[in-house]
Amino acid sequence: MKNVYILAIETSCDETSIAIVKNGHECIYMNVLTQMDIHANFGGVVPEIASRMHTENITMVLDDVLTNSHMQIEDMDAIAITYAPGLLGSLLVGVEFAKTLSYLYEKPLIAVNHIAGHIYANNLTSTLKFPLLALVVSGGHTDLVMMQKDYDFKVIGKTLDDAIGEAFDKVARVLDLKYPGGPNVEKLAQEGLPTYKLGIIHNNDNYNVSYSGLKSSVINIAHNEKQRGNTLNKADLACSFQTVAINQLISKVKKAIENEQIKNVIIAGGVSANKYLRREMEKLCDEYNVNLAVPEFKYCTDNAAMIGAAAYPMYLKKEFASLDLNASSTLELF
Ligand code: KG4
Ligand code: ZN
Repeated sequence: MKNVYILAIETSCDETSIAIVKNGHECIYMNVLTQMDIHANFGGVVPEIASRMHTENITMVLDDVLTNSHMQIEDMDAIAITYAPGLLGSLLVGVEFAKTLSYLYEKPLIAVNHIAGHIYANNLTSTLKFPLLALVVSGGHTDLVMMQKDYDFKVIGKTLDDAIGEAFDKVARVLDLKYPGGPNVEKLAQEGLPTYKLGIIHNNDNYNVSYSGLKSSVINIAHNEKQRGNTLNKADLACSFQTVAINQLISKVKKAIENEQIKNVIIAGGVSANKYLRREMEKLCDEYNVNLAVPEFKYCTDNAAMIGAAAYPMYLKKEFASLDLNASSTLELF
């Protein structure tokens, strides 16, 4: 069969990323230009700045990808673009860029959902084996998704309030850690012990999780220690938070393994970079003899290769978008 090369573009948040992906499984070359340092000055992503920077950088990123891959746009079989969900202004830069390339070079356009991208990132390291349970953990999502086949998504559980990555980022602020919070909370947690007792709601009836109570509990402890003139042990508080936040997920995945037909589990999204999460998931899956797949670190956080991987099954089914494609900030996968 002829090889399929997809030029994939991702601009949903603060990374301008372009990649060339072969047959949905092999990343030929990828550039991820992060704006992290700029947004760090503001303690979080500033949407207006993010979209302006995508506009400034996107052609440069494309140029780098074509130069280093020694390929031309003419060699591509399709152009794939993240069209939802994400920051609207940021998404629009990528969508308009992709539509222009598609029009000029007469290449089919593939509209990819960002969350599907995170799930399909696993295809860059291994191959999705169905039926599977995907744990989607990012700055905007915390979902337990069952898949019986390609592009068949059924959410069995989700967060009732904040996403887990969002909670990591908010706790980072309370602990005076720099943006992006998740990796910094993890680093600090490695130096501490889970000594703080955090208020948690125990709900074992379904697969849903909740993070706002946990976040408030961290804020209250920090506040109370300050009021009492005590020194806050930030490493211990980071460790206590991480332990409870991740254990909540592990217990839901355990419940799903015990009650559903699951032989494969994958972790997707930015928080899947968390080593404590990976370790605990490995232990759980070993215990239940379930196959666990985790993307390589570089494919965990936002990147274009995952968009190319998710576009491939759509390419095979000829599910192409038209040139009036629009971006959507909120569109859910499911
Ligand atoms: O998937 P992603 O790159 O962007 C979204 O689509 O949201 O995920 C970003 C989120 C941020 O909240 C970030 O703090 C979190 O993933 N994150 C982590 C780690 N690395 C990134 N959270 C915990 N531990 C990490 N090592
Ligand atoms: Zn993401």
